Amino acid sequence: VLGIYKSIAKTDNSKFQNSRNRLSSDQIANILKNINEINFNETSGTKDLQEARNKIRELEEKLKYIEVKLENRVPKNYPLVTFLNYKNRKRVLVTGGAGFVGSHLVDRLMLAGHEVIVVDNFFTGRKRNIDHWIGHENFELVHHDVVRPLYIEVDEIYHLASPASPPHYMLNPVKTIKTNTLGTINMLGLAKRVGAKVLIASTSEVYGDPDEHPQSETYWGHVNPIGPRACYDEGKRVAETLSYAYEHQENIAVRVARIFNTYGPRMHMNDGRVVSNFILQALQNNSITIYGDGKQTRSFQYVSDLVDGLVALMASNYSQPINIGNPVEHTIEEFALLIKNLVGGTSKIVALAAVEDDPQRRKPDISRAKKYLNWEAKVSLVEGLKKTITYFTKELQRSKYSFTDHHLKRPYKNDHDIIEQL
Ligand SMILES: NC(=O)c1ccc[n+]([C@@H]2O[C@H](COP(=O)([O-])OP(=O)(O)OC[C@H]3O[C@@H](n4cnc5c(N)ncnc54)[C@H](O)[C@@H]3O)[C@@H](O)[C@H]2O)c1
Repeated sequence: VLGIYKSIAKTDNSKFQNSRNRLSSDQIANILKNINEINFNETSGTKDLQEARNKIRELEEKLKYIEVKLENRVPKNYPLVTFLNYKNRKRVLVTGGAGFVGSHLVDRLMLAGHEVIVVDNFFTGRKRNIDHWIGHENFELVHHDVVRPLYIEVDEIYHLASPASPPHYMLNPVKTIKTNTLGTINMLGLAKRVGAKVLIASTSEVYGDPDEHPQSETYWGHVNPIGPRACYDEGKRVAETLSYAYEHQENIAVRVARIFNTYGPRMHMNDGRVVSNFILQALQNNSITIYGDGKQTRSFQYVSDLVDGLVALMASNYSQPINIGNPVEHTIEEFALLIKNLVGGTSKIVALAAVEDDPQRRKPDISRAKKYLNWEAKVSLVEGLKKTITYFTKELQRSKYSFTDHHLKRPYKNDHDIIEQL
């Protein structure tokens, strides 16, 4: 409309008057020409709009890239921590604190106002899990392997350092044994030197493929000492033995948590365990794979419940092993169905051959935890799974974005290229 108005306005006024306000054929032709031009301009306007959109998209990509780059440089807004006075504030060491469970425990201790030192060799842990605390005055991150001795001053030690999922601990079985034996000796030795209380993260795997159901702490277990899982199962059994040897011989305060299957945000994407496997398969519309007939049972606890239990155990006076797990039992098959329904999508559930030494039944007897710690799991499976699914959805998007981001950047061919860029 503006174009037509302009084209009329452009027309010579005197000519209008001469023809007594009637348009001559020349003038009409002129207007039509202008209208054509307008149409042409409209086409080029659409083109311009498209170009502008492309430009905006390009700028958005650049902005995202810059945001990621700046993330570590801009002063952080740390989560608000409670102020504890000198008397109540503890120096707490969390070995394996950059891992799945460890990082949630670190969050809890930091928020409560304690000073936290994370020791990790980043075998399965990630800096990203604790990134939000780096630089905080109450927080310290030490890149260290627990197989080597450590000399620091602390009041409490949560010893969690050890790979926990079968593909990770089977990757280097000798290292897994060293971490759980030498690593535990080093942490117990540190506890002895500085008079710290120490909590050992043991596992339900100490019960092996159990003959007793549910498993109570008095059950001695049924472990194959030379099977593929032995490096972990026996490693943890020795870690428990060491803890009580140090308690009796050196009089140090030990706490032993026998942790059952735990899940939640920050689990490893590809750790090969049931929860992450099923969720990832469902989110990507791949087949949900069950090993064996799917009738084997597991009990799953949400990570915040575990952290509650660990903190309560450390604070307690109870020094015998304590099961920390959710006793609500599910067959693997039920679990696959539940995840499939929560995620939606088109995945099918398929059965594959059973895995060697895969325990058939697992369910904690938590009467001790109830009695001595006043603890039991609170988070329902559906509630916990929803949070975990949200986490994995974001992780999948993130890895997709990193992939495209990688392709946006010009790859450096050699060191000369890099130097030129600098
Ligand atoms: N997640 C579970 O379901 C579960 C069940 C039973 C027991 N546990 C125990 O809880 C603890 C934590 O498990 P998670 O699931 O968080 O596993 P994870 O693999 O996420 O965390 C373990 C952490 O220990 C670190 N680590 C491994 N070897 C180390 C070494 N030699 N020196 C220093 N750091 C080392 C890893 O880098 C990682 O950060 C483990 O001891 C595990 O055996 C976990």
